[in-house]
Amino acid sequence: MSKKAWGGRFQEESISWVEEFNASIHFDKVLIEEDINGSIAHANMLCAQDIITEEENSLIKEGLLSILDDYNNGKLTFSVSQEDIHMNVEAKLIEKIGAAGGKLHTARSRNDQVATDMHLYVKKEVNTVIQSVELLQQTIIRLAEKHIDVIMPGYTHLQRAQPILFSHHILTYFWMLERDKSRFNDSLKRIDVSPLGAGAISGTTFNIDRFQTKDELGFSGIYHNSMDAVSDRDYIVETLSNISLTMVHLSRLSEELIFWTTDEANFVTLSDAFTTGSSMMPQKKNPDMAELIRGKSGRTAGHLMSMLMLLKGLPLTYNKDMQEDKEGLFDSLTTIKGSLKIMNGMLDTLTINEEVLEEAVTEDFSNATELADYLVAKGIPFRDSHEIVGKLVLTCINQNIYLKDMPLDEFKAASSVIEEDIYEILSPKVVVNRRISYGSTGTEAVRQQLETAKNHL
Ligand code: ARG
Repeated sequence: MSKKAWGGRFQEESISWVEEFNASIHFDKVLIEEDINGSIAHANMLCAQDIITEEENSLIKEGLLSILDDYNNGKLTFSVSQEDIHMNVEAKLIEKIGAAGGKLHTARSRNDQVATDMHLYVKKEVNTVIQSVELLQQTIIRLAEKHIDVIMPGYTHLQRAQPILFSHHILTYFWMLERDKSRFNDSLKRIDVSPLGAGAISGTTFNIDRFQTKDELGFSGIYHNSMDAVSDRDYIVETLSNISLTMVHLSRLSEELIFWTTDEANFVTLSDAFTTGSSMMPQKKNPDMAELIRGKSGRTAGHLMSMLMLLKGLPLTYNKDMQEDKEGLFDSLTTIKGSLKIMNGMLDTLTINEEVLEEAVTEDFSNATELADYLVAKGIPFRDSHEIVGKLVLTCINQNIYLKDMPLDEFKAASSVIEEDIYEILSPKVVVNRRISYGSTGTEAVRQQLETAKNHL
């Protein structure tokens, strides 16, 4: 006779290495709290519906809580032959309280049980991720406020384009994270739904009250179809997708930090705590944490792909393939929480090398558009002015100077409308601060943007 909960129909002994392959206890033990809360709610409902007695219900509750206690005190041992967290807990319960423990699984299947545990778990974790995203947003706001008017080169194609404010640049990430947060919040509508009571596939003949367990477990919604309840893993795909996109955002920011900290740029300095040295080259200070976040964004995208591939072609309803939904998700959650925390620490301790940035924007051609716009304001068609300025830039390159160094008579030779005031117009500060339209990089516009950003928190 097998000791398995489902052993009745089996005649042969199980093989330990097959059990090992079949088991999920190594990773699904993190669901223990959700599993126990789900079971307590289920038992309370069975009792309210006169399916089990008050006495049995209190034995079950006490037993389950003491199992959780044992777990928290490191006293609980799991067994691979009990396969997963659900059957390990049930076996312990029966061991502790006897026959009453065997009644807990009335009107329930592991299929609706695992779905319930996962919905509760993902809801909890997504809320934690949302909080961490918000912490990072706050750090970005502090950084932008502190360095509100530091000017730096803005790039397109990684070529100097136009001068911008550092605060404007970094606030871009605030808005990316704001969209991430809103996607996570929106997904909660579909995560926060109770599958409990769906049974294995078709519901149950017992007179259960699914709305009671839904309310007791704090779910906002309920599945309206028992088959959908046990086979839906959309919310896991959605969570993996939201994590992947947030990780892509963190990866882009990491890449910028990596570039900004090169000897070639030297725009910012990372604190020692978020860098590492080289085992051979004594001078090195490597941005390992930023590189790791960039690398880990590949890993979370991989988990998303795995989940989509897992579901593609699965017939209704539960299939054991679905046990494979967990490790990737758990790993992605660990990865994003870790990455958000590291990024927050990195930005919080970042030094902005203001002098380097100031020098960078005075020694480049990122004010060329300004000169073209100046000519347009004096009546020259933009295409002509573009050509004139292009030629002036070429002359500068040949003479190894910048536009600001060009004598007025040479300017005038290129276009007679250019006056002495051009030198002021070309200064990076003026270039930036003349950008006053909504959402642009001028200090006043960025101040306004900062206020709007703060209102989103
Ligand atoms: N460990 C399983 C999983 O994670 C639990 C559900 C198993 N249900 C079943 N009928 N085999 O998917």
